[in-house]
Amino acid sequence: MSEQKNVVETSEAEIAVHWQEEEYITPPPAFVGQANLTDPAIYDRFSLDNFPDYYTEFAQLLTWYKYWDEVLDTSDAPCWKWFKGGKLNASFNCIDRHLAQHKNKTAIHFVPEPEEERVQHVTYQELYVRVNEFAALLRDTAGLKRGDRVTIHMPMSAELPITMLACARLGVIHSVVFGGFSANACADRIIDSNSRVLITMDAYYRGGNLLNHKAVEDEACTIAEEGGQKVDMLLVWQRYPGKYSSDSPPVPGRDVVVNEELKNYFGVRVEPEKMLAEEPLFLMYTSGTTGKPKGCQHGTGGYLSYVTAMSKYIQDIHLEDVYWCMADIGWITGHSFIVYGPLALAASTVIYEGVPTYPDAGRSWRIAQQLDVNIFHTAPTAIRALRKIGPDEPAKYNYTFKHMTTVGEPIEPEVWRWYREVVGRGEAVIVDTYWQTETGGFLCSTVPGINPMKAGSAGPGVPGIHPIIFDENGKVIEPGAGKAGNICIQNPWPGCFQTVWGDRDRFVKSYFSMYNKNPDSKDWRDWPYMTGDAAVQSADGYVRILGRIDDVINVSGHRLGTKEIESAALTVPEVAEAAVVPVAHEIKGKEPELYVSLKPGIQPSPELQQKIADAIVFEIGKIAKCKNVWLVPDMPKTRSGKIMRRVLGAISNKGDVGNVMTLANPEVVEEIQKMVAE
Ligand code: WT7
Repeated sequence: MSEQKNVVETSEAEIAVHWQEEEYITPPPAFVGQANLTDPAIYDRFSLDNFPDYYTEFAQLLTWYKYWDEVLDTSDAPCWKWFKGGKLNASFNCIDRHLAQHKNKTAIHFVPEPEEERVQHVTYQELYVRVNEFAALLRDTAGLKRGDRVTIHMPMSAELPITMLACARLGVIHSVVFGGFSANACADRIIDSNSRVLITMDAYYRGGNLLNHKAVEDEACTIAEEGGQKVDMLLVWQRYPGKYSSDSPPVPGRDVVVNEELKNYFGVRVEPEKMLAEEPLFLMYTSGTTGKPKGCQHGTGGYLSYVTAMSKYIQDIHLEDVYWCMADIGWITGHSFIVYGPLALAASTVIYEGVPTYPDAGRSWRIAQQLDVNIFHTAPTAIRALRKIGPDEPAKYNYTFKHMTTVGEPIEPEVWRWYREVVGRGEAVIVDTYWQTETGGFLCSTVPGINPMKAGSAGPGVPGIHPIIFDENGKVIEPGAGKAGNICIQNPWPGCFQTVWGDRDRFVKSYFSMYNKNPDSKDWRDWPYMTGDAAVQSADGYVRILGRIDDVINVSGHRLGTKEIESAALTVPEVAEAAVVPVAHEIKGKEPELYVSLKPGIQPSPELQQKIADAIVFEIGKIAKCKNVWLVPDMPKTRSGKIMRRVLGAISNKGDVGNVMTLANPEVVEEIQKMVAE
């Protein structure tokens, strides 16, 4: 562990030294003139003195069957219960309540990847019909009921939010697995959540190919069963309704083709379940320090209040906007800011099936032009890719963004400026939203109608969030001190996840124990939430995130556990030891690079290298693909036998390995350096 800390300390210090303050840029008056939130008094109203009551302002954005008895119940600290006793339904809030005024309005614009296929516009009325019918199918064909878990492994499609909202209508807890994840990763999540039903789609387009997605599910079902969780029913949506588009046929007795089965439910309506605010809405798995991904459990009332407020005040969505969050629904960004937040506001949300740069670098901007998108939301990795392959493309299309978001990883000021000047034509306001799978919604961001922007800086805590930066010993690092530390949040907030599914101890240990002094305390002040990120805060309170302090690599704005990758490598029998390090990558931000030593008597070979590389993609998915797999004669180790990841990281990044003479095997460092330099 101590080596790992060194890595962070070195790089943090480096960045802190090289970091220079950027200029403030004031939001364009045209934006401020129409913004949902422009009164700075919100920061006073949302001061800690008024905690937790200020959050009722967010809850008031929703429609409740019954109001809460208590805003925040701390009796099971730090498993907070928000809006205790309140009752609501997320599907009702995202659909039914809009019908009276907006039934004709587009809820979802689905953009297929092939450009010759027309965009589908699903109105709120149509969404209502389809969610009800599918909810009836889930209840009657699949036998699902309130509290059951269901795994969903689907591509970007209108059917994905329909599936999620149908689950929410019944009180079924959905666990959406990113469509690009492997069968193995999907199976792990089926097992952990005890899902007896899996929902998928037969095929989807990606990069010009119609992928046979159903084949992945057959494999996932097999692996899950071996791991102790049988999938009784696999529900398969058709990419082209009425036509089966996969080479893997339905398995009799297990698989149900949704579009056929739905015929039995045409016209059926399902009463939404009146859920308690604290009942779980969904699970979203994310990587942590140990190998096993954590199922972050998000509640109904708190989560929905929070993402609705963030969509309104930070995303600044209005009814007449066309809002495009170019993320995947299989990540938290998609849950909060493609599906739940925007739909709770009766917004029109865009879902794009494929690759942003397919068939060419102008694709994203053509979509923006065609749908007249005016709010655009994406990650630095996509911005870098669009800039690299088509720096002049945005100018060729006729669209106007008033608001743009960046999310998921630090953005270089250079890239930020291109985003603002070229994509936003200097007219759009930008929010750099810092948050996590666990946090449900934003932690830090400027309020676009109030605060100026600063390139590369996420901004202050959003109203209601009170960040604090601690050093290793729990001492506060004051804003403007020029020193980095661990960024924590002083107060609970409604969007925060409730626990790690089935593992309360892990929840408490990973997020609270480091800075909690009294584990028995029921006072929220004793339980700062630890994000696991290193950050510096300037004198104005703006936060600059430097990266993770734990064994997690942020690839393309998503977390991959180093242990996950290393254990995937160790599934290859020839492998003795594996160590993964992050390497800077032009587009992805970071990329994993793997070092492997082999068991005695095993000879290195290109085939073996490939076998290990394949094992990682098989176990986790392409997102974890390593830049290189180096078969090294031995790992650089301390005398006590610990692998020096810091040294490997320096070699991969062509940095200074420092003094290695104290290692048990200093000679191996030079050998590895030579190997990597070739
Ligand atoms: C980690 C969370 C937030 C949803 C998508 C990723 C990093 C996130 C920013 C930002 C700098 C950021 C942090 C965080 N991160 N947003 N605006 N600036 N870093 O969710 O996979 O749970 O990853 O992403 O390191 O802890 P996630």
